[in-house]
Amino acid sequence: MKLLVTGGCGFIGSCFIRQVIAAHPEVEIINLDLLTYAGNPANLAEIDRSPRYRFVRGDIRDARVVDELVAGVDAVVHFAAESHVDRSTAARAGAFIDTNVLGTYVLLDAVRRLAPEARFLQVGTDEVYGDVAWPAFPDEDAPLLPSSPYSASKAGADLQVLAAHRTHGLDTVVSRCTNNYGPYQYPEKVIPLFVLNALHGEPLPLYDGGTQVRDWLRVEDHCRALWLLLERGESGQIYNIGANQEPEVPNAELTRMILRATGQPESLVRPVQGLRPGHDQRYAVDTSRIRALGWAPELDIARGIERTVAWYREREDWWSPIRSGEYRKYFESFYGFALGDPKRDTSASSS
Ligand code: NAD
Ligand code: DAU
Repeated sequence: MKLLVTGGCGFIGSCFIRQVIAAHPEVEIINLDLLTYAGNPANLAEIDRSPRYRFVRGDIRDARVVDELVAGVDAVVHFAAESHVDRSTAARAGAFIDTNVLGTYVLLDAVRRLAPEARFLQVGTDEVYGDVAWPAFPDEDAPLLPSSPYSASKAGADLQVLAAHRTHGLDTVVSRCTNNYGPYQYPEKVIPLFVLNALHGEPLPLYDGGTQVRDWLRVEDHCRALWLLLERGESGQIYNIGANQEPEVPNAELTRMILRATGQPESLVRPVQGLRPGHDQRYAVDTSRIRALGWAPELDIARGIERTVAWYREREDWWSPIRSGEYRKYFESFYGFALGDPKRDTSASSS
């Protein structure tokens, strides 16, 4: 089986590739990734010498590259995206529309022409349902009400995939997953950002009182669900994926978990307002459809956070180049305060 994975140097795509190369000896993977700020070849260091893995640096919007790679594949697993909500609201959202909408179209068009039997797995997000009032759990037929330029671009991508199934008969599956966390996550997302700041004794910028709820799912559980959908998902169907944490975990509680796991005081929390316009209060999804296929998450948030903190403590080799580079400028310009001296990083990680 030959897979084209897009965005495989990112957080979730790299987990998927590591898992599949380790567990499925019959699978060959081509990874097409542009290596934006979020793409990091180090995420795949443990498998990049496998004879079943090939990396191509390129853009999903580039039809020439995409055509060449799509011909002959059995499936496309499409992760590549601009993925951070704050970047989509803080600046022009052009890159989000370009990569997430146009890039998805370029891939679908290539599959239609050159690999019409291939399965197309669109890795989507629960954010397309928008702000979900308690106690609702939208199922896959719920209306799309995206709040941010990011989620609107992802909804646009999903709709193209569904249209390609209906119009051109492509074998498509759309997944919509809740928030992921775990190893190799770029520290712009709240969990790795708070873990690394806590390990360095630096402020945790908690937005809007921390009352918002996300349904945190460990990235390995998400990737197992994606493999299941690749093998057994019904063609043309949409599948929500989520942990369905009980009780639900507001951001303030998540922050306390991180502080406990890092041994740091609550005084590190820095309340901030206004950094996330249109901030969705709650995400939650009905996951009965994928659970009926036999999937369930293996790790709950409490143990998951402990393991995640342990991973970041051990992997200074991974995060140190990120925290000493371009990321510091992004952090300061977005949050309005600077991270401490990067030379402190060595001692902080072992505290
Ligand atoms: P990420 O930002 O860590 O990685 C994105 C990857 O895509 C990077 O490797 C980047 O280099 C690559 N990329 C970006 N633009 C590209 C382009 N034009 N051509 C080729 N490659 C390009 O993202 P992630 O968190 O791993 O998310 C992966 C996918 O899963 C995204 O589609 C996202 O919308 C979706 N998703 C994410 C979450 C989450 O919690 N992170 C939850 C549900 C769904
Ligand atoms: O729900 C799935 C989505 O989850 C994915 O589609 C997105 O790609 C992914 O980025 C994530 O989106 P969120 O916006 O929910 O994740 P983020 O980590 O940015 O924020 C989670 C919550 O934490 C949110 O309520 C905002 C809050 N937050 C975030 C940051 C970065 C803070 O309080 N402080 C912060 O510094």
